Amino acid sequence: MGLAGKDLLSMRELTVDEIRLILDTAESMKEVARRDIKKVPALRGKTLINLFYEPSTRTRTSFEIAGKWLSADVVNISISSSSVAKGESLKDTGLTLQAMHPDVVVIRHPSAGAAEFLAKRLAAPIINAGDGAHEHPSQALLDLFTIREKVGRLEGLKAAIIGDITHSRVARSNIHGMQKMGMEVRVAGPRTMLPRFVERLGVEVFTNLDRAIAEVDVIMMLRLQVERQQAGLFPSLREYSRLFGLTVERLKAAKPNVLIMHPGPINRGVEIAPDVADGPYSLILNQVENGLAVRMALLYLIAGGGQAG
Ligand code: CP
Repeated sequence: MGLAGKDLLSMRELTVDEIRLILDTAESMKEVARRDIKKVPALRGKTLINLFYEPSTRTRTSFEIAGKWLSADVVNISISSSSVAKGESLKDTGLTLQAMHPDVVVIRHPSAGAAEFLAKRLAAPIINAGDGAHEHPSQALLDLFTIREKVGRLEGLKAAIIGDITHSRVARSNIHGMQKMGMEVRVAGPRTMLPRFVERLGVEVFTNLDRAIAEVDVIMMLRLQVERQQAGLFPSLREYSRLFGLTVERLKAAKPNVLIMHPGPINRGVEIAPDVADGPYSLILNQVENGLAVRMALLYLIAGGGQAG
């Protein structure tokens, strides 16, 4: 079993063994990331293209650093200064890049299905770095890695994912990933931010924050996409924060040592209070750090053909 030459499009498509392989490989990569000199030759002579149609700090930078630490040649395409700005289609952009023989292409795009669209047309393996409201698999993998690292296991843990579930690719990828790894998942948010038939994903559904966070091991807060306020999904930031913002006071309803996660970027004082984000149970910066190790593992397994160990 391996991931050499395969696309990574979604957590839904990964098997439990593949997820374990990625997490175990990321453990070895974390050791590399802690060395004084981080460069290893695993992807020497390979080319990684980062193609981001949406803004990103964590994902784009960590794929770039991960590729460089593995000695790949990394090319970042800035959409505003590429021919996309002249109207070039995704298909033609993809075929043009393919003609330059990349060994792996990482894409973020506002449309669900964009990564799969490229995967069907390009010979190079495609890594989905977020496609619309569909999936963000490398985020879910780094989240699973972070929980496993902290607790020592995933099986039997309970997580609550709080916020705009409908529009969150992070929520969708984590629901699939956590359930595959034996975790129970709850979701909570205003009714207007919960997908119709969300129960069919096998999650427990709450519209009350205190009830949702009681008895869970992990609370994952989602970024409030403030642009949604115009769509009338919630009356005001203040109202959203009052009902679904995680504060030290609200944390009294949770287990004393509950782990707090957020994929970032955070809206301080909206979905998460500053003293919770910066508090002792927050794993937000551990998630960022682990994103490097997990993305090194993905590039190594997909473009380098390696196995764990
Ligand atoms: N979590 C995440 O995807 O962050 P960026 O948008 O900064 O990459």
